[in-house]
Amino acid sequence: MAAEDTTPDPTVTDPARTLTGVAPEPGVAKPDPVLTVDGVTRTFGGLKAVDVAHLEFERGAITGLIGPNGAGKTTLFNLLTGFDRADTGSWIYEGNPLQKLPPHRVARKGVVRTFQLTKALAGMTVLENMKLGAVGQRGETFLGALFTGWGAQERRITEQARELLARFKLDTKAEDLAGSLSGGQRKLLEMARALMMDPKVVMLDEPMAGVNPVLTQSLLGHVKSLRDEGMSVVFVEHDMDVIRDISDWVVVMAQGRVIAEGPPSALSSNQAVVDAYLGSHHDQVLEFDEHGNPVGQTAEIVAEMEAAEFEGSLADDGTGTAHPDQEGKRT
Ligand SMILES: Nc1ncnc2c1ncn2[C@@H]1O[C@H](COP(=O)(O)OP(=O)(O)O)[C@@H](O)[C@H]1O
Ligand SMILES: [Mg+2]
Repeated sequence: MAAEDTTPDPTVTDPARTLTGVAPEPGVAKPDPVLTVDGVTRTFGGLKAVDVAHLEFERGAITGLIGPNGAGKTTLFNLLTGFDRADTGSWIYEGNPLQKLPPHRVARKGVVRTFQLTKALAGMTVLENMKLGAVGQRGETFLGALFTGWGAQERRITEQARELLARFKLDTKAEDLAGSLSGGQRKLLEMARALMMDPKVVMLDEPMAGVNPVLTQSLLGHVKSLRDEGMSVVFVEHDMDVIRDISDWVVVMAQGRVIAEGPPSALSSNQAVVDAYLGSHHDQVLEFDEHGNPVGQTAEIVAEMEAAEFEGSLADDGTGTAHPDQEGKRT
């Protein structure tokens, strides 16, 4: 909405531009949300691992999801893709509530997440892993699918797998054991496998972890190409340079909650605070009171972030305290 200093090219749809003018406030409405999350909670023992009041993911955008270890990012992915069951809440994808569906039905609707390859999968070939990407998410039994033969469907899936392997430059590895791949090649395989379902929303959980710099660039290129093909991407990553480079929008979680969101430019203009928050405070236990307001050191960090970056969600009540306004935080 608001005029910006960028020079728009009307022939290119730029998700970052469609998000221009969206207020940098937790839970803010997006112009064209593909996935809308409401009141989602998940408790482990006494710990609220996820407590997301409202969150919208913009269609066709790359949303960077950041936050310290234990913030609830992976748990949120598990909930949204049906691999874990929420205690409360709903999430709507293209008008379809997904919260009651098992993973393969969520995937069939077009929402997939990546996993790290397990040891078991390392003992299968790259091509078999790709086929598993299709059958596993389609809810068929893997052994039945792989070894009893599917005829035409099997041939189609094999063809699709080989095309995707070529795209990710893994075609020469098709018959190799997945366990023989480098860390980076496994990440590429993981992404290729997720695409076997022709997804519309792809959730990538730390796809860059343990990848060498050369493959990192290649991976980033592939992630951007998913967006260029119209997919919506949610992307968990700790490296702030990567987040700034690739994200159209950034969501910050801490202790299960969305504590901030905004354009990546807001992050880069306050790098020191973000790095402090995600770096030296990375393993610090964040503290919140019973109302969900940050206290102590956590309050200082959050207040600093909000004051510097996400202003507007910080009310000046004139008391001089560092506590963000409760109403502003919880809507
Ligand atoms: N299956 C589980 N059982 C018990 N606690 C869990 C489980 N999964 C996650 N947690 C806890 O939930 C919190 C959020 O974890 P997680 O979603 O993995 O965070 P992140 O991905 O942001 O690092 C952590 O405190 C973690 O220990
Ligand atoms: Mg995680």
